[in-house]
Amino acid sequence: QITPVLLCGGSGTRLWPLSRKSYPKQFVPLMGEETLFQASAKRLSGAGVGFAFGAPMVLTNSDFRFIVTEQLQAAGIDPGAILIEPEGRNTAPAVLVAALRAQAQDPEAVLLVAPSDHVIPDVDAFHAAVAQGLVAVSEGQMVTFGITPTHAETAYGYLELSAAPDAAGRPVALKQFVEKPDAARAAEMLAAGNFKWNAGIFLFRAADIIAAFEAHAPNLMAPVAAALKDAEVDLGFLRLAPEPWAQAADISIDYAVMEKAKNLSVVPFDAAWSDLGGWDAVWREAGPDDNGVVVSGAATAIDCSDTLLRSDSDRLEVVGIGLEGIMAVAMNDAVLVADKSRAQDVKLAVQALKDKG
Ligand code: GDD
Ligand code: MG
Repeated sequence: QITPVLLCGGSGTRLWPLSRKSYPKQFVPLMGEETLFQASAKRLSGAGVGFAFGAPMVLTNSDFRFIVTEQLQAAGIDPGAILIEPEGRNTAPAVLVAALRAQAQDPEAVLLVAPSDHVIPDVDAFHAAVAQGLVAVSEGQMVTFGITPTHAETAYGYLELSAAPDAAGRPVALKQFVEKPDAARAAEMLAAGNFKWNAGIFLFRAADIIAAFEAHAPNLMAPVAAALKDAEVDLGFLRLAPEPWAQAADISIDYAVMEKAKNLSVVPFDAAWSDLGGWDAVWREAGPDDNGVVVSGAATAIDCSDTLLRSDSDRLEVVGIGLEGIMAVAMNDAVLVADKSRAQDVKLAVQALKDKG
């Protein structure tokens, strides 16, 4: 049995105005009826070939706790455990606390750690990759899933493979993990051909990741263990103790452990995957028409090209005429209009509004 660990503490500012601090992108229906969080939880439920998923462990913060329970219930998923982080300390402390809790309950526990904001439409292909990963996990390896890169992205981690993957997609030993390279390094790795993108999804035994933390990020052990030991049960949530939690370094699992660990294997994942890191990614995933136009909700495009027009408002109609390379997204209380090449700068809108107070 595999225990899914769902990370949903992020705020997704690049998908403003749909994604809000109080209601971030993983909890809104961004593509289709379900939210990304619900789709992620469903993907990690039920059974694959040769394995089954147990009830998930969800790591989130206080603001999102009721959204989490409501959405799991609506998706028909047993909530398992919901751990509340008193403050966001990034993914390393979150993964460590999940591993410590799982191991205390079952020393043999195997965890599948996943973000809750990715789009992976082919669930069977994903389960097949997990089944491949379990073979390496049984040999003490920690598994990452590798996406074939299409451009010199600097927002992802890169996985250097020690050998070319075979047709069956069996795990390949990792040579090197490079988190978020600069543009020059990203271009080099893309050209080299033996690199994959890190999908940000990890499969390992709780005992192995704990050993990796002990070896590579020992300073996290005491505060995170104490935050778990003194955690309070509160209406079915497990609220980690704030004082020790605040002592844990704010660092991602990628920098804290994955760049340093030696026992890493990569399972290639060639089916569609997107981390929906901006409106351009939503445009791409939605399937643009021949003119490169995507309309969604109460929106109409007339003579437009390479454009996203979307209304999630029940009051506002969006009409574009003769637009090229534009993204417009309307909500009841806010409208974004931006050049499509500036998708990554949408976080500036959130900052600007914050500065205005
Ligand atoms: N519970 C919790 N607490 N979740 C968190 C926290 C936290 O403090 N911080 C981030 N998360 C969640 C986010 O909501 C997201 O679902 C996931 O953890 C990953 O965090 P991101 O902040 O989105 O990471 P990233 O996208 O910059 O980079 C990671 O993912 C890339 C692929 O999307 C890395 O693993 C990269 O190597 C990878 O390529
Ligand atoms: Mg991300």
